[in-house]
Amino acid sequence: SLKVDSVQALAANLGPEIPDIYVRPERKEDIVADEEDSGESFPVIDFGRLFDSKCSEEEAAKLHSACQGWGFFQLVNHGIPEDVISKLRQDTEQFFKLPLEEKEKIAQLPGQTEGYGQFLVQSKKHKLDWADRLGFVTFPPNNKQLKFWPTNPPSFRETIDAYAIEIKKVANGLLKMISKNLGLEFEKFYDIFKGGIQYFRFNYYPPCPSPEKVLGLCPHSDPMGLTILLQVNDLQGLQIRRKDRWLPVQVIPGALIINIGDIIEILSNRKYKSIVHRAVVNNEKERLSVAAFHSLNIGDLVGPIPEIVKGDELLYKSLQYEEYFKQVVASKLEGKTILDHMKL
Ligand code: SIN
Ligand code: FE2
Repeated sequence: SLKVDSVQALAANLGPEIPDIYVRPERKEDIVADEEDSGESFPVIDFGRLFDSKCSEEEAAKLHSACQGWGFFQLVNHGIPEDVISKLRQDTEQFFKLPLEEKEKIAQLPGQTEGYGQFLVQSKKHKLDWADRLGFVTFPPNNKQLKFWPTNPPSFRETIDAYAIEIKKVANGLLKMISKNLGLEFEKFYDIFKGGIQYFRFNYYPPCPSPEKVLGLCPHSDPMGLTILLQVNDLQGLQIRRKDRWLPVQVIPGALIINIGDIIEILSNRKYKSIVHRAVVNNEKERLSVAAFHSLNIGDLVGPIPEIVKGDELLYKSLQYEEYFKQVVASKLEGKTILDHMKL
């Protein structure tokens, strides 16, 4: 694969022309839903209410229909201490402000899945996303490779650890409610994901002089289980595929955005769906986000859970997680999706 230049550095020295490799002709055909006339309201789930015996049942029903009908929801009242989130916002912004040489001390190299860099591409024909990123495993402790973690700003590692623990609590709570909603034992999904990988991806989208020509992140569904997204500087940019249109997700300050990933679609035999989404950029301000992905680990099986399938048609095959993950990468390079590969 080829090394790709920092988009942040490129954007800082750019004239009015966007290099062709970032230009997406297909965007001319975009149909973006007008938030007002879409007539639907994006689901908002209250985490506190899920665990309050007075209203748990009602909130769990809302969660179920969000997972079934949307694959996405906003989470409010998640209980993460405000200082943990504000430290993460600050340190993330600080990190991306560092000079390129400083960020490249933890550069992602070809063949690696962790570090600072850009999406690695296979050929010069491949279109590129208008984003830089930083990614690494945050859980379990044995899978952490600190050589990919920034040491600058100096508090960043500690800040990330604190936030990762809080996000894991939220993920665990949601996984328990999801089990219950799918008619399983309360701890079933929690148990399945307990030893799993938590991977963080920090996204930096520089402003672009022609934002309508590029994509911050091209359309995809998340290959992991459950994604929890923080929009670091509360700027809109995420859009989900719904009813053959792109629906922008509104910013609710302080809320987290949650989505069902491919692994939960597979485990649930498609009772819950992993929805295609993308990120767009704007011409004024940089946008930052942090995605926390929750996945399985080596030795785990990715496949429909027998108690969920029961008499229904089996929609996906099963694969060991290690093999599944290799297939995620292989499918992407072929321009296919892992769900296509897993379909029976
Ligand atoms: C994503 O990770 O798919 C979206 C991230 C974002 O909204 O920035
Ligand atoms: Fe995503």
